[in-house]
Amino acid sequence: MQSEVRKKLLDAFTEANGDYLSGQYLADLIGCSRTAVWKHIEELRKHGFELEAIQRKGYRIIKTPDQISADEVRLGLTTKFLGQNIHYQESVDSTQKIAKTLSYENAPEGTVVIAEEQLTGRGRMNRAWHSPKYTGVWMSMILRPNIPIQKAPQLTLITAVAVVRAIEEVTKLSPEIKWPNDILLHGKKVTGILTELQAEADQIFAIIIGVGINVNQQLTDYPEELRDIATSLAIESGEKISRAQMIRSVLSNFEKLYLLYLEDGFTPIKLLWESYAISIGKTIIARTINENIRGKALGITEDGVLLIEDEAGKIHHVYSADIDLSEN
Ligand code: BTN
Repeated sequence: MQSEVRKKLLDAFTEANGDYLSGQYLADLIGCSRTAVWKHIEELRKHGFELEAIQRKGYRIIKTPDQISADEVRLGLTTKFLGQNIHYQESVDSTQKIAKTLSYENAPEGTVVIAEEQLTGRGRMNRAWHSPKYTGVWMSMILRPNIPIQKAPQLTLITAVAVVRAIEEVTKLSPEIKWPNDILLHGKKVTGILTELQAEADQIFAIIIGVGINVNQQLTDYPEELRDIATSLAIESGEKISRAQMIRSVLSNFEKLYLLYLEDGFTPIKLLWESYAISIGKTIIARTINENIRGKALGITEDGVLLIEDEAGKIHHVYSADIDLSEN
């Protein structure tokens, strides 16, 4: 549906404040036939609106979808630069893809791409990221820090701390971090972070950080294979959570930590990250591309590398892996 027609219809329903509007009234308003009005109403239903149709009375709106608009996110956003430029789209392949293009077109640092759904959302290691409409936060941030390339993974860890703090702020839940970038509630994944680098020679052009937060999904919204390993804020808290508020909270927490990091380095972030990390001090199995390493997670280095001490006392530096908590 063209967005002007949708806007006109929605404005009329907003003004009607829950009263019925006749098919003829709507037809005159948008300059089309009553059959065309019916088609537009069907389209609105597909976009998550609940509308009642009663003969001789017309249509009235019962429920609007929980949509996030750029205006709603900006309302009450207290950041200096992060999210001051928002690129919002209802449906996208992946917010990462759009952010990368915008970055090459010289979008300013702090530009944020937000979508209601992703058709081909991507996770780490080229996995798919389930991103259904109107239920989660699917966003990508463009950053241009003046740091050496090898320090880029630190930004993933800053993001994890920012999201944990945002979840604590908006809900009463206490999330934990599983290295490097999974956020868990009661052992199930609620957030994933994907950090991608745009660099030339040894200079960072941009870092694109994608954040996927499962907010209002119910268990039945997940495909069967994800039900044991994924969860949402709504499932864990028993309440519907405002996605716009979550976004604002992630942005302001991230900006504070990012500015602290640029000023004072990684040490304060490392301490915060370790305080939320689930695996430190525990026996874990790190599944890397080459091998499985079993041992005690000692902590992370200044570069965000995970240190594991195996049974023979050898210390392994793990740059990329999937982590399982060992049974014993
Ligand atoms: C992971 O845990 O594997 C990372 C998941 C990252 C998902 C987010 S959702 C917004 C952004 N766009 C994507 O396609 N992926 C990231």
